[in-house]
Amino acid sequence: MMHRLTLLALAALIGCFGAANGEVNICSNVVSNLFLPHVSNCSKYYLCMSEVAVPRECPANYYFDARDQQCVPVMEARCVPSCKARGLESFCYDRTCTKYVLCFDGTPVIQQCSDGLQYNAQTDRCDYPQFVDCVDNLCIRENNPDNIVYIASKAKCDKYYVCLNGLPTVQNCTRGLQFNPTTQSCDFPSRVNCTVESLQRNILPFARSPPRSADIECPSEGAHFVAHQKRHDAYYYCLNGRGVILDCTPGLVFDAKRGECREPQFVGA
Ligand SMILES: *[C@@H]1O[C@H](CO)[C@@H](O)[C@H](O)[C@H]1NC(C)=O
Ligand SMILES: *[C@@H]1O[C@H](CO)[C@@H](O)[C@H](O)[C@H]1NC(C)=O
Ligand SMILES: *[C@@H]1O[C@H](CO)[C@@H](O)[C@H](O)[C@H]1NC(C)=O
Repeated sequence: MMHRLTLLALAALIGCFGAANGEVNICSNVVSNLFLPHVSNCSKYYLCMSEVAVPRECPANYYFDARDQQCVPVMEARCVPSCKARGLESFCYDRTCTKYVLCFDGTPVIQQCSDGLQYNAQTDRCDYPQFVDCVDNLCIRENNPDNIVYIASKAKCDKYYVCLNGLPTVQNCTRGLQFNPTTQSCDFPSRVNCTVESLQRNILPFARSPPRSADIECPSEGAHFVAHQKRHDAYYYCLNGRGVILDCTPGLVFDAKRGECREPQFVGA
């Protein structure tokens, strides 16, 4: 908790968030040679090399665009959004699949999903990968015709992705075949053993429901993620004395050590 507070204070001072590498390594689970945006300054970005973030800057009048994976003229750039002055919301940290920016009354904090969970922008929280199916962290811009990158879908057995110009493009297997990651081709289901569970769910995103105030006394300073008093599948997010209740995705429970929801079998590890 202390560390997160320091990071937040530091971020406020130098306007640079996440890069300080406190608890969240923005390049974890991100393939080498992929570029990540900077959360509070469009001129800056990072190159991920062996899961280490190397700071970079665009030339004057250029901003970094995570989708294009390069600096583009300011007018054309799609920057990371900034937090609205009021309320609770979150948005994905582009191209990472697992990290997101949680905003509460204008203050951003970078959060990270654990154990293969991914950030679901539809529900504003960490989720099972079959409901998100993000592979943006695996496609770099350089195309090597001798080494085409195929990625299995996490959501459907007959779906896969091919990286093209830095972006994953969806492909479907035909005639009842399924994607086989070992051979990187569509194959007979008996040779793939794909099991993907998809359930019907109904989850209200944080951004579309009014924030619920925490029924505890929050520390007067800093950002804190605190276990809920009665529920395992919810937690409090406290910021400078004010708190809100956040729910985990059904099936996940809050891990106070990580400050994030996880699958029960990993909690405490
Ligand atoms: C963003 O970073 C650039 C390069 O370091 C700097 O010149 C500029 O002032 C920064 N902009 C903001 C809004 O902090
Ligand atoms: C793959 O199948 C889905 C429906 O399952 C469809 O929406 C999509 O357009 C298909 N994509 C391609 C490239 O055929
Ligand atoms: C698929 O599962 C069956 C039964 O569990 C197993 O015998 C077979 O080796 C598996 N095949 C592959 C390709 O993993």
